[in-house]
Amino acid sequence: MERSNDIERVLIDEGEIAERIGEIAAQIDADYQGKIPIVICILKGSLVFCADLIRAMEVPVTLEFMKVSSYGASTTSSGKLSVSLDIMSNIENKDVLIVEDIIDSGHTMKALTDMLKTRNPATLRIVTLLDKPSRRVAPIEADYTCFEIEDEFVIGYGLDYAEKYRDLPYVGILSRKVYE
Ligand code: PRP
Repeated sequence: MERSNDIERVLIDEGEIAERIGEIAAQIDADYQGKIPIVICILKGSLVFCADLIRAMEVPVTLEFMKVSSYGASTTSSGKLSVSLDIMSNIENKDVLIVEDIIDSGHTMKALTDMLKTRNPATLRIVTLLDKPSRRVAPIEADYTCFEIEDEFVIGYGLDYAEKYRDLPYVGILSRKVYE
């Protein structure tokens, strides 16, 4: 079956994504003038967004990767953070910018930022492609948000369902018949 049959509709197309990334990159450039932030790309979902964002930015960056997931979270605590890949560099007194694809409950970003703060970065900020504020449980907000979205099952542009669709160039809504 054609993969396009799995997509209910395109939510954010390639042009819209590129335009918004340009705007956010300009904000980040203004905020980091004269600095070289350490960009942490949170695998796997953020790969595509991060690749486009750092190329849209003019300030130079160094690039790190992390693979994390949160578990055991409740409404009052950020839960435990499982780190399966950690960054290679020391972030003490450095400007750190976390690049995330989506903030949903917020558990992952809350636990990750709590952990990274113990390493004493000079600054720690979050940029996210997508935000689902209606789903938020943990008290965390991104410093830069490309798009706020409704509670839809989104895939593409790095986001997956069962590891598929990450390579689609747009953010789409997955058809219910794929997962129901
Ligand atoms: C997704 C996403 C965030 C997290 C958001 O990662 O990339 O890291 O979930 O959810 P939360 O706000 O409810 O914590 P996922 O575990 O699916 O990994 P992936 O990026 O490798 O697909």
